Amino acid sequence: MINSEIKAYLHDFAASDQKKVVVLTGAGISAESGIPTFRGSEGYWQAGSINYKPQEIGTLKMFKQSPKEVWKWFLFRKTVCDNAQPNAGHVAVAEMEKMLGSARFTLATQNVDGLHLRAGNTLRNTLLIHGDLTHVRCSRPCRKEPMPFPKGFAPKTRETDISDEEWELLKCPHCGALTRPHVLWFDEYYNEEYYKYNTALTRTVNADLLIIVGTSGATNLPMSMYNTALDEDVQIMLVNLDENLFTRSLKLQGGGFILMGKSGEILPEVVSIMRESI
Ligand code: APR
Repeated sequence: MINSEIKAYLHDFAASDQKKVVVLTGAGISAESGIPTFRGSEGYWQAGSINYKPQEIGTLKMFKQSPKEVWKWFLFRKTVCDNAQPNAGHVAVAEMEKMLGSARFTLATQNVDGLHLRAGNTLRNTLLIHGDLTHVRCSRPCRKEPMPFPKGFAPKTRETDISDEEWELLKCPHCGALTRPHVLWFDEYYNEEYYKYNTALTRTVNADLLIIVGTSGATNLPMSMYNTALDEDVQIMLVNLDENLFTRSLKLQGGGFILMGKSGEILPEVVSIMRESI
C-alpha cells in the first residue's frame, strides 16, 4: 500500500538520528476503537426533540444555558471512551515514540479519550491540545488547576439522567460552583497553559515530518500546525479514510504524502518501515 517513494523517505527519516516527527491525531484514529467521530452521524446529540451537533452542544454558551444537558453528553462520551480499547493505530503511535525517543518524537492529539496514553505514549511527549476527560476544572473558576475526574459515576447511555448524588460530585470541592470538563469547547480559544498551543507550533517548526491522522481539519490549532509545516518546508504525511480539507489542500500544493485508508492498518506499516532503518 505504501509506495516506494514514501518508503525511501521513511527509511531516510528513521536512519538519521536527528530527524524529528510530530504526529497530530484526531477522532479518526479512535474510530476503530468504536468511538464515534465528531462529524460522523453518531456524533450528534438529542436533547428533548432537538438534535444538536457537537459544535452546538460542546460550547461554553450551551454550558451556561443548560449545564446538565452538556454534562449528560460528556458523561455519556466518557463512558464510551472508558469502555473503549486502544487499536492498532494507537499501538503504532506508541511504538513510534519508543523507537524514536523523546528527542525525536512529539504527539499532539485532539482526542480527549485517553487511548494514546493507555496504548503507551507518555505524557512527557504528548500534547493534549483539546484537554482530556480524566480531569475537570472549576467553572467559576476559583482556581485554575484541573482536578482529577471525581469517582462514583454509574456508566451512562444516551438516555441516562444524572442522579442528585452524581450532580453533587460535579461541584467544585473548593468553592461549591459547578465543575466543567477539562476540554476546549468550540467557542473558546486555545492557550498554552491548558492546551499547549505555543509548544505545538514550536515543535512543528522544529520538526522534519508532520504526520496528520484522522482529522477533518475543522479546528484552529491543527490547521495552524499544517500551515506552519507548509511554510517551514516540513514534510507532511496525511493518513485519513476520506478526502478532507487537508487532503484537498495538499493536493493543490502538489507535495507531501497522502495515505488514504484506515489508520489502524496504515500506521503499523509506517512504523514497521521506519523500524527497518533504525
Ligand atoms: N482511519 C483514518 N481516518 C479516519 C478513520 C479511520 N479509521 N475513521 C474516520 N476517519 C477520518 C474521517 O474521514 C474524518 O476526516 O477522521 C476524520 C474525523 O474528523 P472529525 O470527526 O471532524 O474529528 P476531528 O477532526 O478530530 O475533530 C476535531 O473538533 O469536535 C471537535 O474538539 C473536537 O477534537 C475535536 C475536533
